[in-house]
This record gives sequence, C-alpha cells and structure tokens, in this order.
Amino acid sequence: MASTTPVFGHEMRKHFLLAPEYTPLNHGSYGTVPRVVMDAERRYEEECESKPDMWFRSTYRLNLLEVMDRVAQYVNAPKTLGSVVVVENATAAINSVFRGIQFHEGERILHFSVAYPMVKNVIRYVKEREGAVPVEVPVRPPIANDDQVVDAVRTALAEIPAGKLRLAAYDHISSVPALLMPVKKLVTLTRQMHPEALIILDGSHAPGNINIDIADLDPDFYLGNGNKWLFTTKGAAFLYVKKAAQHLIVPQVVSLEFRDVPLPGHAEAVHAAHTTAQAQSLLPVDVPAFEGNFMYIGTKDYCPYITFRDALAFRESVGGDQAIKRYIQELMWQAGQEVARIWHTEVLNPRNMACSMLNVRLPTDDEQVAKDAQLRLYNEHGVFMMVYSWEGHQWTRLSAQVYLELSDFTQAAQHFLAIVKEEEAKRTAAH
Ligand SMILES: Cc1ncc(COP(=O)(O)O)c(C=O)c1O
Repeated sequence: MASTTPVFGHEMRKHFLLAPEYTPLNHGSYGTVPRVVMDAERRYEEECESKPDMWFRSTYRLNLLEVMDRVAQYVNAPKTLGSVVVVENATAAINSVFRGIQFHEGERILHFSVAYPMVKNVIRYVKEREGAVPVEVPVRPPIANDDQVVDAVRTALAEIPAGKLRLAAYDHISSVPALLMPVKKLVTLTRQMHPEALIILDGSHAPGNINIDIADLDPDFYLGNGNKWLFTTKGAAFLYVKKAAQHLIVPQVVSLEFRDVPLPGHAEAVHAAHTTAQAQSLLPVDVPAFEGNFMYIGTKDYCPYITFRDALAFRESVGGDQAIKRYIQELMWQAGQEVARIWHTEVLNPRNMACSMLNVRLPTDDEQVAKDAQLRLYNEHGVFMMVYSWEGHQWTRLSAQVYLELSDFTQAAQHFLAIVKEEEAKRTAAH
C-alpha cells in the first residue's frame, strides 16, 4: 500500500537521472530508470563480483525465483496455468516463441500490419524458410472503435482454411502507431474460429502502462518489457508460457544446463544434462526444465533481471502501481486532445484504444519538414518527440510519464508548430 499521497509531475524528476534541460515525450521507446532501481542493480553487480561462485550458483538463482513469482503475481499468471520466466528483452521473448515452434508447409501466422518490424523480420527470416505463410490483418486510419479491429481479424480468420492457423500474434499495445488492442475479444474469437491455433500477445508496452490479467486473457504466450513502463533497468523482460506449450519453447541461447521439457502429462526425465544443471547450481529446490532453461544462458550480467523487484517497490513507494497508471493514462488523454487542438489536427486513438501513449497527426504532411522540425525541437528546446510517417500522413507518438505535466506537451506542441511554419516558409521562399 502507498504510504504517502502521490505527487506526480515535475516533482518526480528528482527520482530519475534525466538531464535538467531534457524533456522526453517518448518514454515508450526505451524508458528511463529511477535512481533507486539503478542503485539496486549496481548493488547486485557488486555482490556478484564479491562472491562470483555463490552468485551464479545460488544467490542469483534464489533471487530470480522470487522475482519470477513476483512478476507472475503482478500479471496474474498463477503457476497452475503456466510459468513466467525472465529474459533480456521483448526481442528475445519473441524469438524464443516464434523460433521454438516448428511450422509445417502452408501453416499460417496471423499478425497486424502494425506489428513491430522485428516480429515481421522473425516471420520473414525464419518462418518462411519452413514454408509458413504470413497473413497480415490491415489496421488503417481512421479508427472509429476497437470493433473495427475485431472485424478485420474476423475477416482474416475466415479466409484461413480450417486447421491451418498455427500462430496468431496480436499486440496488446502496438508500437507505431500505439494502439491498445481488444486482445480479450481477439483471443476469444480466435479460439472459436481456429481452436487448434496458438496465440501470442505482444505486451512489450503493457507492464506499468495498463493492467495485465493473463488468467483472464488466457493466451498461450504473453511477453512484456520491464524497462519501458515498469521502471526496471535495461535488459529485463518476461515471457509467460502456458503449461501445455512449454515443450515447444526454447530460450534464444541453449546453454550447458539445457534440458528437454517433457510433453504435457509426462514426468521429467532425469538424464545427464539434468545432473549437469544440478551440479552447476546450489539450488535447494529442483527447478523444472522449462524455468531452468531460461535461468542460466551462460555467463553474463543477470542483475537487470532482479530489478523487477526494485521497480515494483519503487512504484509502491511513490504512490502505487494503480495511481501511476491512472496519472499517466489521464495525462496522456488530456495532453493528446490539447496537442491536436493546438495543431488543428486529430488524435488517432478512440478512447477505448488509448493508454499512456497516443498518436496525434502532425501539422504538416511533409516528411522532411517533420524530420527537420523534430531535430530543431530537440536542439532548440531540449524536447524529444518521436515522429513517423504512416498511411500518407506525418504523426507523433506521445508518451506520458510520472515526471511530465500537461504544460510539457502544450509547450512542445507550440514550439513544434512555430518551427513547422518557419520550415514551410523557408521552402516556399526557396521555390
Ligand atoms: C510492440 C513491440 N514489440 C517488441 C518490441 C521490441 O522490444 P525490445 O527492443 O525491448 O526487444 C517493441 C519495442 O519497442 C515493441 O514496441
């Protein structure tokens, strides 16, 4: 429980390492870590270096087991359903799932047109070699409500022959543009129309941004980043895998402790590799193969993994997880409307597809003007605003965060507009 009344806004900057002259309106790309969480990571690193054998064989593993339980609770993923393991980032989680599943010739992989480019690369590079066929669900403006997305998915699912959909990949929150997707409805619809399909939800942007309830959503796989919205250090993400699908999934790196995960309903075989894993570690408990495979992937810095615990503690110390989410979601909605009003443009997201990121159309459709204005906004006003081209227009994806206030967005919007007008006038004069 929170011990103090939350004070969000500029007052919160003291908790972060942000340069005083810098205003980030794009927290969603990389996040930034609170000082106390960074300090915790350094403490773990010192502990590791002070007793390396104990750290790798025992201390790290015991800490990680606690963290896995803590994250599982946070996303409501009871052990009876499946397991939560910690990985480096969303890219590692996606690779583990997509590359673990073996596709047969002609099997379909469904994904949104707005899926993160890395996901499309994994499908193109790895899966098309196995003969898998990507099916893209178009997501295009204007977006009136989330039923529009459900209808587009329904149409795509109806065109896939029975028994041919192997994997459906839905973003919980897409990246560019940022859209909160109706994933509960999509999981239900997919299970009705293609009961054999596996379902992965890409929640890279979800932890710390919106509530996640894995038991309720019931996907086969769910992944989320710690460093974006939850405030872990960089190099901490989680992957949930339902029990029945665990035998399919391998970590991106197969280590000396690797063991086969038994098929559902089968006991774990004790063989040489299993004994190696036990000999390496000093774990007082026998970790199941699935969790064990992700726990140790060679000698590296595992300290970021442990900072899930410190990030969650930080959130409680400044007012609580729910209070933070309320503040950033409300700020984002209000700021999005204000920015669109200043620019005489519009917010892309309908209310029920909004979260702590929103897309607003820029006051120019000229890509070069948008890019020049982005750079000048940073150089002249210290504001980073992400801009992108999409469907014939220029857009920004804005992120709210606890260290921001409405004035950060409105001032940035006014500066940006003035720069755009100057850049356009310069170009008109040159012609
Ligand atoms: C929807 C989505 N998936 C995956 C990723 C990849 O995340 P990471 O760079 O942490 O691997 C991102 C990154 O922004 C994303 O937005």
